[in-house]
Amino acid sequence: MTASPASIRTDRLTALIERERSAYLANFPGSRLAFAAGGRHLLGGVPMTWMRMWSGGFPVYQVAASGARLTDIDGNEFIDFCLGDTGAMAGHSPIAVQSAVSRRYGELGGATTMLPTEDAAWVAAELTRRFGAACWSFTLTATDANRWAIRLARQLTGRSKIAVFSYCYHGSVDESFIVATPDGPRPRAGNVGAPVDPRETTRVVEFSDAAALDSELSHGDVAAVLMEPALTNIGIVLPEAGYLEAVRELTRQHGTLLINDETHTFSAGPGGCTAAWGLEPDMVTIGKSIGGGIPSGAFGLTAELAERILADPAADIEDTGGVGGTLAGNALSLAAMRATLGEVLTDEAFGQMIAVATRFTEGVRSVLETRRLPWNIVQLGARAEYRFCPVPPRSGGESAAAADPALDEYLHLYMINRGVLMTPFHNMALMCPATTEADADAHTALFAAAADELLSLFVRVPGGRCADRVPVGGRA
Ligand SMILES: Cc1ncc(COP(=O)(O)O)c(C=O)c1O
Repeated sequence: MTASPASIRTDRLTALIERERSAYLANFPGSRLAFAAGGRHLLGGVPMTWMRMWSGGFPVYQVAASGARLTDIDGNEFIDFCLGDTGAMAGHSPIAVQSAVSRRYGELGGATTMLPTEDAAWVAAELTRRFGAACWSFTLTATDANRWAIRLARQLTGRSKIAVFSYCYHGSVDESFIVATPDGPRPRAGNVGAPVDPRETTRVVEFSDAAALDSELSHGDVAAVLMEPALTNIGIVLPEAGYLEAVRELTRQHGTLLINDETHTFSAGPGGCTAAWGLEPDMVTIGKSIGGGIPSGAFGLTAELAERILADPAADIEDTGGVGGTLAGNALSLAAMRATLGEVLTDEAFGQMIAVATRFTEGVRSVLETRRLPWNIVQLGARAEYRFCPVPPRSGGESAAAADPALDEYLHLYMINRGVLMTPFHNMALMCPATTEADADAHTALFAAAADELLSLFVRVPGGRCADRVPVGGRA
């Protein structure tokens, strides 16, 4: 019996993955022991269940981190392109944030008091300068920023639904766990303990499909479109020319508010995609990085919407009306946000971060071109991501179809075993102000070596197209 190309591919890739798994066990014995010893009272053996996503069977245990470097319990040092999946986009423990946090918590005291500090007005004004939205309120996470923005949008429009894009991710926002399929919308696989079927609360369309959005909004029941201006949680999916303008026009036409979630797309520049691409959302949400690693989030809205919500006698935004949180807007996270925005993630820093990301992207692209690998890399400012398909996907659905868990595992393990940390979700790399060109080049060298190893294992077709002989995501 002849082996099918699929089984040849699976066997060879499995052998490589097995080799890397063994290397992982050998490289990180301290982490392995810590995981085995410490996990009994932790759900899933980790402090937060996403940490089970790391390839290798257990996560590496962090001991210290500074700038773009992280050191583990075994004394290994990593170039960190994961950066806490964006939470550490300012770099690990930048000096300015260290000082602001220790001053607020130590010298001055009072991390959380239910009273404002002067930092809040500074941070809000800075967010307005960057993102345009006139009035801001603070949260501890991007999820809450989105949750509260959605509530305000419902209250303001008197409409019950929101619209999102298929394979979006906006945090653990109940309404957003929905995907578009040829047979209509369905809850996203694995949606844990959903309060209601998201089809009751949400309309969903594919990114880049303006006609589908028009059709969904024409029902007249959508309070807000919640979107990342470029999808970043299913690979990076950039909008096609004119698409975001169409989204803005359609939302205005149908009386629907537009919320830009800039939590990840902040990588596009100091004011995220909103400023970089001249967008005009009604609300902006952001979280993760703006506190330099201290839990922080924010949502901003136009002056007109702010005035309306404050004047609405039926909206209890001061007490138990569903918007706000005890520790939100606390003095510690505001001090951290002020230092991060004022001294670390500055306009100048973005110039440097984007230049390094461009070098990272060009390095990977040259490997893809010289090896004729049918993969692509997409850059969004300080962030870049490769995907296992020949051309960048146009939608979440297309990008999901290019996923390849086996290739992901191989590449993640290959990198971490050689001192490079990528996000455990897909193949995203983020640059912080401390990331250097040498760091980007180190990744390129490893990526080239991994690509060569993969290519050497697959059937070579003399003069043939590379798709005949190398792995393409989702297919053998
Ligand atoms: C675009 C976007 N929005 C919101 C969130 C939620 O962030 P958090 O988990 O910090 O609340 C994420 C998390 O990955 C995200 O990618």
